[in-house]
Amino acid sequence: MDAILQKATDEVYKLVEADDEFLRRRTIDKLRDLQYALETPEESMQRLIYLGLTTSSIRVSYNLDIFNKLVEADHPLALDELAETTGADPVLLGRILRHQSSMGIIDEPSKDTFTHSQTTRNIAKPDIAAGIQFCADVLGPMYAAIPSFLAERSYQNPTSLSDTPFNQAWNTKLPLWGWLAENPEHRARFNRFMFAQRSSVKDCFSFISLDKEAEGWSAEKPLFVDVGGGVGQQCIALKERWPGIQGRVILQELPDVIVNARAQPLPDDIETMEYDFFTLQPVKGAKFYYFRAIMHNHSDEKCVEILKNQADAMDEGSTVLLDEIVVPDTKVEWFVTQTDLVMMGQFSAMERTESQWRSMLALAGLKVKSITTYTHGFRLSIIAATK
Ligand SMILES: C[S@@+](CC[C@H](N)C(=O)[O-])C[C@H]1O[C@@H](n2cnc3c(N)ncnc32)[C@H](O)[C@@H]1O
Repeated sequence: MDAILQKATDEVYKLVEADDEFLRRRTIDKLRDLQYALETPEESMQRLIYLGLTTSSIRVSYNLDIFNKLVEADHPLALDELAETTGADPVLLGRILRHQSSMGIIDEPSKDTFTHSQTTRNIAKPDIAAGIQFCADVLGPMYAAIPSFLAERSYQNPTSLSDTPFNQAWNTKLPLWGWLAENPEHRARFNRFMFAQRSSVKDCFSFISLDKEAEGWSAEKPLFVDVGGGVGQQCIALKERWPGIQGRVILQELPDVIVNARAQPLPDDIETMEYDFFTLQPVKGAKFYYFRAIMHNHSDEKCVEILKNQADAMDEGSTVLLDEIVVPDTKVEWFVTQTDLVMMGQFSAMERTESQWRSMLALAGLKVKSITTYTHGFRLSIIAATK
């Protein structure tokens, strides 16, 4: 058995080098299935019942800046040293760190001495850390609210933007965006989270040729409008991919996010503009109106409203680009199913299959030109549509 495991281990490490997303993801799922196949009923129970507890312990370690300390040190750190620099009780801290070591989140090479593991190095990265903290703080209470929320509504698919598990958990009628505007600390982490999402896969711009489509475009005309573009992550990515591309690049967002985007600051050649996509698009005749992870936050009815607001500004050369998940009809990956349930909890919204995308776009009066799926895990796709 040891020889078989060693061979499997060697093969797995080769995958890290191979940079083959499909093979890597398939192997992760296969290894998971093998792990579960070995479990007794009690072990399955033990694994499942404490998932939230591990997230809580990770949150404590972020509060105490443990992961950065472990990653930055060039040697394993003693528990007493960590207790002294964090001000935490060594008995308490030891219990938390031993739990994290038992879960592979950190490593304990010898008694009361801790160092980083692959997971520590992964989750110490600032954008990833912001994403985990945002989800622990803001979505954690929402996850807890889901069972009673659905039971009280007789298990009907949620449809209201002001009656969601998020609203119940936070006792607010505000949709997430309004609530985040009143909670800037969470908003700042959410913005970083959007950099972390999809950071392990190649950007969509590696798979589509906007530069070719925009050949001959003039510098004064709007080229790329990133609607609801966060703090400009995709405008920056576009400029990095095609530094010489001609035409105006414009980030549109809600007012509080535009303030955050300007504070970074953004490169000079990226314009910023306050815009609510439930109003008419003010930038007329752009080559591309790009929406990443926007439609999955909304019901079909609201998506149609947003898209009709763009259609008025589009001319015959304009294309709407939706950068979204296209859910396969069967064997949907956990990456996709969990996002789908989060959209339900936050917005009464959903991820969509190809036929759902096509019928929603048809309702908005747009024709699908192409669908390019560019990642295996998330099934991220560019849906291009014209008037
Ligand atoms: C899921 S995030 C995606 C951000 C960015 N497109 C990305 O993929 O990284 C959705 C974004 O839509 C913005 N948003 C929500 N409602 C909006 C509205 N009515 N008008 C403009 N932007 C809005 C939010 O502020 C948020 O940054």
